[in-house]
Amino acid sequence: MKNLLTVIGARPQFVKASVVSFALKEKGIMEDIINTGQHYDAEMSTVFWEELGIPQPTVNLAVGSKSHAHQTAEIMVKLEDYIMSSEKKYDGLIVYGDTNSTLAAALVASKIHLPLIHVEAGLRSFNKAMPEEVNRIMTDHVSDLLFCSSEIGVSNLKKENITKGVHNVGDVMHDAVLKFTEIANRRQDKSAFSFVADEYYLATVHRPSNTDNDQHLSAIIAAFGSLNKKVVWPVHPRVKTKLAKISLPKNIELIGPQPYLNMLRLLANSAKVLTDSGGLQKEAYWSNKVCITMREETEWVETLENGWNTLVGADEAKIVAAVNAPYPTAERMAIYGEGDASERIAQIIYNS
Ligand code: UD1
Repeated sequence: MKNLLTVIGARPQFVKASVVSFALKEKGIMEDIINTGQHYDAEMSTVFWEELGIPQPTVNLAVGSKSHAHQTAEIMVKLEDYIMSSEKKYDGLIVYGDTNSTLAAALVASKIHLPLIHVEAGLRSFNKAMPEEVNRIMTDHVSDLLFCSSEIGVSNLKKENITKGVHNVGDVMHDAVLKFTEIANRRQDKSAFSFVADEYYLATVHRPSNTDNDQHLSAIIAAFGSLNKKVVWPVHPRVKTKLAKISLPKNIELIGPQPYLNMLRLLANSAKVLTDSGGLQKEAYWSNKVCITMREETEWVETLENGWNTLVGADEAKIVAAVNAPYPTAERMAIYGEGDASERIAQIIYNS
């Protein structure tokens, strides 16, 4: 394949696509990028494109925030219109992860018989109440090339009888952490944050199961309030309005959504990480940080080995106990590849 269309639209996809786009270009593969506009605030979108050097999108579908059906359907209609009216003939379409943008683009590609390439395939939380779980199952079942982050992904796909076109290449987010941590550390404006290294926990909470359930959100906030350090919490826009109505314990410091390089620096200087994000669990692992995951299950099961990541749900006592537990002494295993996933993906696409 020499002529590709990439469809991205949500914050974590900008990070993943940035390293793959670079690798595709190195191989001389032509790529047009469509931004669905699922994330549209400058701090959730534009800042990532600029900072990560992603080629400008050919089109912005500007779908914005809507119900799942409206958002998915609108991306489908607009994307199909674009492809059908384009003079270019694409050899394949790339999607990333498990958002509504991923599923919408996957369905469009499948129906018009455009070969579909799924990066971060084979992930399963086995919890279909999460919209992402439905999105990833559906996407995997219509994909032609499936790039997994680990052998567990390959085996999850095998259990669903998907074996053709499956490759374990490692995780593209590992490539991104390696590439951009170096850049983040070289940055001049190191004083952008006044937080003292090791004197704060870095927290993110944005899963609907935590933020839209008052009991869960209260338990999480109460747990944060009884920790012995400051909790620095970059707030996703969906949670901001909710938190504005709650009186927060004094040690919680809310900041806006952070650009990727700032996030890497906040991570590198944190004492521990508390999150319900998938990506941050892995980033914590690669940055030698203990992660406390406020979910009942994780797709990234390898990070649970040896105590580097602990599942605590939205349980106040469990959260506090996990944060106060000593750092694990066990060596961390090298999981999710060697940091060359994007090059391997580009090579396989080039040969396909
Ligand atoms: C989406 C993905 C999730 C991913 C996350 C990364 C789906 C189903 N979920 O969740 O898997 O981990 O992105 O951040 O696709 N909003 C803004 N400004 C924005 C974007 C969103 O204010 O730029 C607010 C809106 O109130 C919106 C809400 O956030 O309704 C949710 O946005 P949406 O894109 O539906 O899902 P995320 O929670 O961001």
